[in-house]
Amino acid sequence: MKTAFGITLLLFSFAASAVDPVKPLLDTDVDIFDTDSVRRGAGFFANYCMGCHSAKQIRYSRIAKDLELSEDTMRREFMFGNVKIHDYLETAMSKEDGENAFGVAPPDLSLVVRAKGGDWVYSYLKGFYTDPKRPFGVNNLVSPDVAMPNVLWELQGTQEPVIKKINGADAVIDVRLVKKGEMPPKEFDQALTDIVNFLAYVSEPSKLQRLPLGKYVILFLVVLAVIMYRLKKEYWKNIH
Ligand code: HEC
Repeated sequence: MKTAFGITLLLFSFAASAVDPVKPLLDTDVDIFDTDSVRRGAGFFANYCMGCHSAKQIRYSRIAKDLELSEDTMRREFMFGNVKIHDYLETAMSKEDGENAFGVAPPDLSLVVRAKGGDWVYSYLKGFYTDPKRPFGVNNLVSPDVAMPNVLWELQGTQEPVIKKINGADAVIDVRLVKKGEMPPKEFDQALTDIVNFLAYVSEPSKLQRLPLGKYVILFLVVLAVIMYRLKKEYWKNIH
């Protein structure tokens, strides 16, 4: 009975993957302990994203402390306009302006990696392709009919859709690079990983302290266990 159920499930999953036109998400290794990468990601975020998006859960001062950056470096590379070191990462774009320009206000990105996962954000940023029917001339493999323009196109170049007929209708099943951008593809992928690492860090900054702390806690418990065991032996020695 169990086997029959298992086989049915298996068949269903095959059937589902056969009709699902969208390719699986791309893989990226999120590593918030790669400080150089997180720093570069912060730079990309400040230069390419904060015109529209905020990350209101974090302050510049926290980033400076966690990434070991001086206030001077912060000012030079990440803090533009009239912002102070204890300010949160706010965007200059108001909700109304965002709605007027894009139909939907660009969301705050503080928690996006926790909500959707690093692979999703990576695939999304890499998934833009030319589509003359859309207001900004681009569509997105992961987020169809997206309202965001491809802000990284200069670095990435131009991607076109790979179209396949599925049940008589055209479906976009993949994208391919047709015109190179300023960055070679590998370098661009690294830039996206940097951005995802930065957003992963922003979504849970205390992880930087918590995970190393966890190791000490475990070490402490091991040492404690050894001491307790010795003590126990000592106490029981005369009783036996
Ligand atoms: C010109 C304005 C603009 C810029 C610059 C911009 N975005 Fe966006 N972004 C948007 C809009 C508008 C949306 C909403 C898209 C939608 O709902 O279809 C969006 C959505 C997103 C989402 C999806 C969020 C979700 O929860 O669905 C992510 C992730 C994102 N942007 C990341 C970035 C990153 C990273 C950058 C910088 C590299 C960036 N954006 C730069 C306008 C912008």
